[in-house]
Amino acid sequence: MKLDTTMAVVTGGASGLGEATARHFAAQGAKVTLLDRDADRGTDVASEIGGHFAETDVTDEASVAAAIDLARSRMGGLNAAVNCAGIAVGIKTVGRDGPHPLPAFQKTIDINLVGSFNVARLAAAAMADNEPESDGARGVIINTASIAAFDGQKGQAAYAASKGGVVGMTLPMARDLASSGVRVMTIAPGIFKTPMLAGLPEDVQAALAADVPNPPRLGDPNEYARLAAFIVEMGYLNGEVIRLDGALRMR
Ligand SMILES: NC(=O)c1ccc[n+]([C@@H]2O[C@H](COP(=O)([O-])OP(=O)(O)OC[C@H]3O[C@@H](n4cnc5c(N)ncnc54)[C@H](O)[C@@H]3O)[C@@H](O)[C@H]2O)c1
Repeated sequence: MKLDTTMAVVTGGASGLGEATARHFAAQGAKVTLLDRDADRGTDVASEIGGHFAETDVTDEASVAAAIDLARSRMGGLNAAVNCAGIAVGIKTVGRDGPHPLPAFQKTIDINLVGSFNVARLAAAAMADNEPESDGARGVIINTASIAAFDGQKGQAAYAASKGGVVGMTLPMARDLASSGVRVMTIAPGIFKTPMLAGLPEDVQAALAADVPNPPRLGDPNEYARLAAFIVEMGYLNGEVIRLDGALRMR
């Protein structure tokens, strides 16, 4: 696959890693549709990059089905889906206020894990109808986990469980979709300078950056976007999780 013939949906495309991916893909000649629940920002980014926007809740079956239909008709097809929509929560299993509220745990799983699967399954079904490229490729799905899937910290039980689920579904989905010519890859980012992180005080950001062995800084969302672009074009990458973290191992 080549970026200049890629027709991609990017969830979470209104902000952070998804926004950087949408911008980078569009700059490389891809057609892009942003799927996000933030309509104001999503519309702005889409118009800046000459793309499309569909207000979407990734946890909702009908919402994602409608967004994928819209994306296919606006772009003339669909052969890439990048799952960046997600939320971060920090609550201990038992904290000062008592046990972790179950709804917060369930909501995190619902958006980060169920939402990613919901988009992946509907995008893959659409891609299965594509004419295969000369190597049999019909499309690619890129999920976003986190290094918290492997070394989750205090307060990250819900977040780490949701991202562990994303890691766990990567290989079986790649196997399920092999006969359709659709690859499935997951990126596990370390700590990236996105709106999710930029709200933290400068000294906290500096402390986080200092823990990264090399290079000792936060990740740039463009670095995520460039890896996503590489995955689209590198047809032999499949069924694997790539850490993108400057060798950070969280304690
Ligand atoms: N920033 C980091 O350091 C970091 C590290 C590891 C993993 N990640 C993961 O990367 C992904 C993107 O993170 P980010 O830092 O760009 O966050 P962000 O908050 O900047 O962007 C997330 C986007 O997802 C959208 N979104 C949230 N829930 C949604 C829903 N139900 N339906 C549709 N859209 C929804 C938001 O509106 C927002 O535009 C997340 O899955 C996050 O867990 C981020």
